[in-house]
Amino acid sequence: MLLNDKDWQGTFKGIYQGDTAFDVTMKAHTNLAIGGPADVLTTPADPLSMRNLLVVLGKNRIPFFTLGGGTNILVRDGGIEGVVISLKEFNRTEVLREGNKYAELFVEAGVPLQRLVNFCRERGYSGIEGLTGIPGTVGGAICGNAGSYGCEMKDAVVSVAMIDSHGTLDRFKAEGLGFKYRGSDILQTDIVLSANIRLKRDEKDAVSARTDDFFEQKRHKQPVSARSAGCVFKNPDGLAAGRLIDEAGCKGMRVGGIEVSAVHANFFINSGGGTASDYLNLMDEISSVVEKKFGVALEPEIRVVGRE
Ligand code: EPU
Repeated sequence: MLLNDKDWQGTFKGIYQGDTAFDVTMKAHTNLAIGGPADVLTTPADPLSMRNLLVVLGKNRIPFFTLGGGTNILVRDGGIEGVVISLKEFNRTEVLREGNKYAELFVEAGVPLQRLVNFCRERGYSGIEGLTGIPGTVGGAICGNAGSYGCEMKDAVVSVAMIDSHGTLDRFKAEGLGFKYRGSDILQTDIVLSANIRLKRDEKDAVSARTDDFFEQKRHKQPVSARSAGCVFKNPDGLAAGRLIDEAGCKGMRVGGIEVSAVHANFFINSGGGTASDYLNLMDEISSVVEKKFGVALEPEIRVVGRE
């Protein structure tokens, strides 16, 4: 059935390079340290291996899930069916062009977003300073259009190279990807491999100062080093989910090992031994308190994945 070591080795011999492990707990691969086992976790070493992997999975009707940094997802306690694909080996950043006003970079999806933010601050490339302190990878930040301090990933993206579930590779202009607040039209079955991004050239000191300033603000307002998945709910139009949850008196509420952060109410923290069902129950409780008190329905910002 392919999802065991012997069949996997037999099927992929000579056509696939990359580490593969079976029955892997997702606790080790998510910032929340929550999640049941994935049937398989594999890390393709190059685009051709990625393509061959997708073709074989498609032929065998095996589902897959693309893992970025595991920082904006909640994996259910039942784990993930099929194959989790890690983009860790897609980790190159290159300067394509540096003009007087702009620089264009090629950045692969598995590059940690903060490595890119630092790369830009060291060279005086401006545009993504506000993304400082956001964990996860560039690929995840593109799919979910990560943002903060008025800066969104989409503002820097020029084009994105993706591979679809049939193994077809293509490049798309940013305008065609349907970027919106904390989202895009990129399908869950499309894998972002890399992006070309454009940044303004500026004084290194100025970029550095802005980046530091945003990080300081974030450090004071958000539980940046705790085990969380970032903001749990999207901000409803013109409102702040964190303020609504706080004003509804929910700070400190908990279910099992998951609690509403005392620093920022739109963050749930795994304070030890929390499970996905604790987290989901806390989401339900908080949404219903906020709905009763303010008549506002909160929508999840995090992505919930995996089997029940
Ligand atoms: N507030 C409270 N109590 C709280 C938290 C916030 O009253 O516990 C109030 C604040 O005082 C402020 C308002 O709510 O008046 C908004 O708070 P904040 O400035 O912290 O921003 P936010 O709207 O809660 C958004 C994004 C963050 C992003 C920050 C900074 C969403 C859901 N959240 O937070 O993004 O980092 O702005 O730009 O869009 C994320 O996407 O995971 C995330 C953390």
